[in-house]
Amino acid sequence: MEPTPTAPALTLRPWRDSDVPTIVAAHRDEAMRRWLMRPINDEDEARAWLADQHRGWADDTLLSWAVEEDGAVVGCFVIKAANPPVMLATGVGYWTVAQARGRGIASRCVETATEWLFGGQDFMPADEVEQLHTVGNEGSCRVAQKCGYVLDSVLPPLPPKFPDEGHRHLRKRPVQATTDTSTRVPSP
Ligand SMILES: CC(C)(COP(=O)(O)OP(=O)(O)OC[C@H]1O[C@@H](n2cnc3c(N)ncnc32)[C@H](O)[C@@H]1OP(=O)(O)O)[C@@H](O)C(=O)NCCC(=O)NCCS
Repeated sequence: MEPTPTAPALTLRPWRDSDVPTIVAAHRDEAMRRWLMRPINDEDEARAWLADQHRGWADDTLLSWAVEEDGAVVGCFVIKAANPPVMLATGVGYWTVAQARGRGIASRCVETATEWLFGGQDFMPADEVEQLHTVGNEGSCRVAQKCGYVLDSVLPPLPPKFPDEGHRHLRKRPVQATTDTSTRVPSP
């Protein structure tokens, strides 16, 4: 992702085994432990999480990237394939390391990925993209809203994985102006 007037470029790359200590350190943060479905406590759990990210790439259900700024990992960004009944559409997800927050990293990733999803590529095309978060997660809610994901519905708890109510935000692909002239009334 290109630099902005106030922030360096961001690079999305697949996760590596050498990221394990960074992942464990990122998960020591209180907000990560409060809001992520799967907080990571140690290197074994980080390795199991990494294996799931690799599996997601292998079966096209989860595209998971490390987000790098100036060569350092500053977050995670994912695109998830729809998985009813929990996820009705292709979804986006994110976290950023505590010291990198408030600099637009999550929202730049969401914006770029959404453009890609709507942009006509064949790999994972989408007409609408959703973002799910627990009610009360103001930061995640704000990122979604800033990126044009409007609040679509409040989801009931779905224990054990989702013990609390959630927000479903949705952004739809813009309707293309039609060039079809066949239904126009011909000029006299
Ligand atoms: C939510 C999170 C990903 C935001 O990352 P970030 O890189 O700081 O987000 P951005 O800098 O792109 O912020 C986008 C907007 O959200 C706002 N925002 C970010 N965190 C906020 C918070 N905790 N409360 C209120 N607003 C917040 C920013 O001010 C910005 O709005 P603005 O441009 O109008 O000022 C980060 O706080 C995080 O990792 N939290 C813990 C994990 C998590 O909750 N992940 C989401 C799970 S669904």
